[in-house]
Amino acid sequence: MNKSDVIKMIVGRAVSEPAVAQVVAFAPTNIALCKYWGKRDVELNLPLTSSLSVSVPKHGATVQLSVNNSREDNVTLNGTALAADSVFVQRLVAFLNLFRGNDPQRFQITITMNIPVAAGLASSAAGFASIVLALNELYAWNLPKQQLSILARLGSGSAARSLWSGFVEWHAGVLPDGSDSYAEPLSETMPTLCMGIIPLSNAAKPIGSTEAMLRTAQTSTLFESWPKKVAHDLGLIRQAIQRQQFSLLAGIAESNALSMHATMLSSWPPICYALPETIAAMQRVWALRKTGQEIYFTQDAGPNLKLLFETGTKEAVAENFPTVNIIPLFHE
Ligand code: PMV
Repeated sequence: MNKSDVIKMIVGRAVSEPAVAQVVAFAPTNIALCKYWGKRDVELNLPLTSSLSVSVPKHGATVQLSVNNSREDNVTLNGTALAADSVFVQRLVAFLNLFRGNDPQRFQITITMNIPVAAGLASSAAGFASIVLALNELYAWNLPKQQLSILARLGSGSAARSLWSGFVEWHAGVLPDGSDSYAEPLSETMPTLCMGIIPLSNAAKPIGSTEAMLRTAQTSTLFESWPKKVAHDLGLIRQAIQRQQFSLLAGIAESNALSMHATMLSSWPPICYALPETIAAMQRVWALRKTGQEIYFTQDAGPNLKLLFETGTKEAVAENFPTVNIIPLFHE
């Protein structure tokens, strides 16, 4: 089974006449509290384990999509027209080709992202999720979100979680065709929860997540314990959300991220997404915790840290991390 087979199964005959001339769709970026690292199927982006994230309100990708009369897709990112041979456009066109098969339709795609692209801030998650939402509207497929989550997963695994706000769990599933590997929102919120994004570098990652996951699975002896760690952490994070226990939630999220990076550090050749500034910020967080400040962090496939704290700790965070961008995750 390949990606096109999955799309045929879900959408049927892919592209037809657009139902409307132009659509606009937004998808938020999401940050995993219990990470997805490792695939049980590389072609279909099926994960080895389930994962759980929180979406970042108003931060993500807005895409404006229409059919154009040209022979190529035209892609504009944050106001700049991108070259057809850029990595970004090639990845996007390859994804769109899955849906149009031999159909000659080409698109005008205008993307606005208010998060750094490819720097471990889940820009691809928001990007692919917004494209899938836009296609669903353009062709009036009217698919349920669960199915859209599967389609977004084919673009980038973590995109499966970017179709909702709040806490979202992506079920690993067990079926080879991935029809049980989709995300679902949790009904609970945590009104005091805030995220602080510390922008340390906008540079693109030294190694993409797919290649890094494969190398980790193949060469890190620590990776054997990763699924066990995830099962343990997922249980506790769900419990912390149900009981509104912030410190448990954020402590497990930090430990989960550090364990994921430990599997990468023990790979060969080693993978290290941290910069000296990343480590310095981690040490500042740990020093602040020793003084009683409840501040935690998580880190993805990039050098930037995302702090986790509650509304009452906002001032301390702003004082200690002058460049931080503070975002309340559940209300203004
Ligand atoms: O969706 P991908 O292939 O970009 O992988 C994302 C991996 C992490 O961001 C590191 C973890 C996660 O669960 O989002």
